[in-house]
Amino acid sequence: MIPLALLYALSVKLALVLALSSLKLQGPPTLPSDASHLLNPALASFSIETAFFEEFFGNASAPNRLSLSLLENLKARTGVPAEIRIGGITADSTYWNASQSAALSNFIDSAGALHNTTIGPQFWKSVGLLPHGTKITMTLDLHDLNYEDALLMAKATFEGLVPGQLFAFEIGNEPDQYQVPFTPQSYTAVWATWAKNISTALGIKSPEFQLGATVIDPIWPYDTPGASSALDCVSALAAGADNGHVAKTCSEHTYQYSVCDPARTAVATLPNLVNHTRLAEYLDLWQPRIGAVRQQLGDDAFVIGEYNSVSCSGKDGVSNTFGQALWLLDTILYATSINVSRLYMHQGGPLALQSSTQLNHGGLSFYDMWHPVQNQNGPIQVFPSYSTYLFVGEVLGHSTSLKIANLYPGRQANGSSITTALGDQSAGQLVAYGFWDTSQPSSHSFPTKFALLNLQIFNQTQSGPRPKVEFDISAFRRDQHRPIKIRRLQAPGADVKLSNLTTWAGQSYFSGVATGDLKEEKQQSSIIAVQASEAALVFL
Ligand SMILES: *[C@@H]1O[C@H](CO)[C@@H](O)[C@H](O)[C@H]1NC(C)=O
Ligand SMILES: *[C@@H]1O[C@H](CO)[C@@H](O)[C@H](O)[C@H]1NC(C)=O
Ligand SMILES: *[C@@H]1O[C@H](CO)[C@@H](O)[C@H](O)[C@H]1NC(C)=O
Ligand SMILES: *[C@@H]1O[C@H](CO)[C@@H](O)[C@H](O)[C@H]1NC(C)=O
Ligand SMILES: *[C@@H]1O[C@H](CO)[C@@H](O)[C@H](O)[C@H]1NC(C)=O
Ligand SMILES: *[C@@H]1O[C@H](CO)[C@@H](O)[C@H](O)[C@H]1NC(C)=O
Ligand SMILES: *[C@@H]1O[C@H](CO)[C@@H](O)[C@H](O)[C@H]1NC(C)=O
Ligand SMILES: *[C@@H]1O[C@H](CO)[C@@H](O)[C@H](O)[C@H]1NC(C)=O
Ligand SMILES: *[C@@H]1O[C@H](CO)[C@@H](O)[C@H](O)[C@H]1NC(C)=O
Repeated sequence: MIPLALLYALSVKLALVLALSSLKLQGPPTLPSDASHLLNPALASFSIETAFFEEFFGNASAPNRLSLSLLENLKARTGVPAEIRIGGITADSTYWNASQSAALSNFIDSAGALHNTTIGPQFWKSVGLLPHGTKITMTLDLHDLNYEDALLMAKATFEGLVPGQLFAFEIGNEPDQYQVPFTPQSYTAVWATWAKNISTALGIKSPEFQLGATVIDPIWPYDTPGASSALDCVSALAAGADNGHVAKTCSEHTYQYSVCDPARTAVATLPNLVNHTRLAEYLDLWQPRIGAVRQQLGDDAFVIGEYNSVSCSGKDGVSNTFGQALWLLDTILYATSINVSRLYMHQGGPLALQSSTQLNHGGLSFYDMWHPVQNQNGPIQVFPSYSTYLFVGEVLGHSTSLKIANLYPGRQANGSSITTALGDQSAGQLVAYGFWDTSQPSSHSFPTKFALLNLQIFNQTQSGPRPKVEFDISAFRRDQHRPIKIRRLQAPGADVKLSNLTTWAGQSYFSGVATGDLKEEKQQSSIIAVQASEAALVFL
């Protein structure tokens, strides 16, 4: 798409940061040629670390009402529950024990290190607590290279879940990071054989396996020598992973920041996180892979099966803030605009043996959307980023015919986002997405919704007036007289960590249900003011 022309006014801010104060979005209002595929109703899904599943959802005799209520709120908006992937590093040391009475049991040594996890028949009753219709992706242990154990777990899952509930099996978590390294060929030899043999053993006829679950960032540019020998979805497919027609989807994991070691901890700051240029440049690395996977396995086949902002369990003051909520919103919308089908946000806790230099030890992760139980890192609480999933749920609504396009800063000729260096006048602070409902040909003429993000950081600790930007969407309105409706994602600042200060459409969700009066603005004007560290959903 041709970069959008824009009108802007400059106002000089402190520290020589130039910020826009108005932005007129340029038409035409018709569905852009680079619009995405149809948005998947389970776009905003979850990955739950296997060993922490009970901590999150409880069990049949002690369900975790907070977690379940938070998931029901999401389902109410789209009619389709968020999907749950049960996986993460502990899936590679999780075993099935048919005679175990506890739903889930973790073997933790006296030093606090988790050695392994066993699940028994009661585990499926815990899974059964999830909202009706929740699809499950189950990760089997590949790391031990024990086919019989993987088959046992697959069989227990297949029999334990409600018929039709299984979305897919994964075999192994992040196999590109195993200490004994796989090549695409050695991985594929095991993966394809197991997937085929498990399918035969369980009588599975259609492809029911999710390939990959790899995590190492693509080597860039993708034609660099060595890039194609990395283990990922594309190299595994090239090595024949789908020769037996078992691959349904392909998953890669994304974590742009990390606190696994001090060097990366220093870079994992709030201003780096809440920056469209940075996050779009990162996600753009996957574009060639997304394209190749969709071409081979279908439009809906590329998922980010595990992700969060800061690996090794997040960073206090960064990943548990309202800034994370804005990062999450832009990440989901941008990834969708480049045709990622679904994103599964990872929830769990720090693992003692993940890295010898990691920042976090014990409790639940600082990047979780909520803490379902009291733990070393604080009381039971919901974090600001939960409200982002409500925003996304209302973008989707009950429509199954929506397409998204990134209107600002827009795309380069090769499909990547326009960066700060290439002329994004807002330096990664202003982002606009349009949504077209393609159910009828006439609905291709005008968008039905807009998501407007102002990522400029405003902290609650900051004094002085809060900056704002006026977006002008007049070029996109079918009828200037019909009032537009606006719902906002708000907090007193990007550094806020409390969900009782975070609101979506005027309501906060600290107790798991909406508190406060629903706030929806109605206006005739096409000028929409969005404050620094705020996002708005506009219904045309
Ligand atoms: C996304 O998919 C749609 C439909 O398949 C296609 O037209 C569009 O070019 C794709 N976008 C990108 C960035 O590949
Ligand atoms: C399975 O669980 C039962 C009951 O807790 C226990 O006695 C048995 O040792 C376990 N089996 C294995 C292989 O760990
Ligand atoms: C269910 O959870 C409660 C509270 O954690 C625990 O005491 C009980 O043993 C669990 N039941 C099963 C079947 O795991
Ligand atoms: C779990 O780890 C402990 C300690 O290393 C070991 O004794 C036990 O056999 C393991 N359990 C399984 C099911 O592998
Ligand atoms: C998979 O099935 C093939 C054909 O039945 C068999 O030769 C092979 O040993 C099996 N491999 C594993 C790991 O079970
Ligand atoms: C698109 O081009 C830019 C340079 O203008 C480059 O930095 C980026 O990596 C390219 N993206 C893709 C997906 O090739
Ligand atoms: C966002 O990141 C880009 C790329 O690193 C940088 O050039 C730009 O200045 C950043 N924006 C702000 C407001 O810091
Ligand atoms: C806001 O606070 C964060 C830390 O919470 C800090 O990194 C950032 O520099 C602050 N930004 C501004 C504009 O004050
Ligand atoms: C929000 O929650 C915090 C921590 O529980 C509490 O200290 C504060 O008073 C609450 N604020 C509001 C506005 O309810």
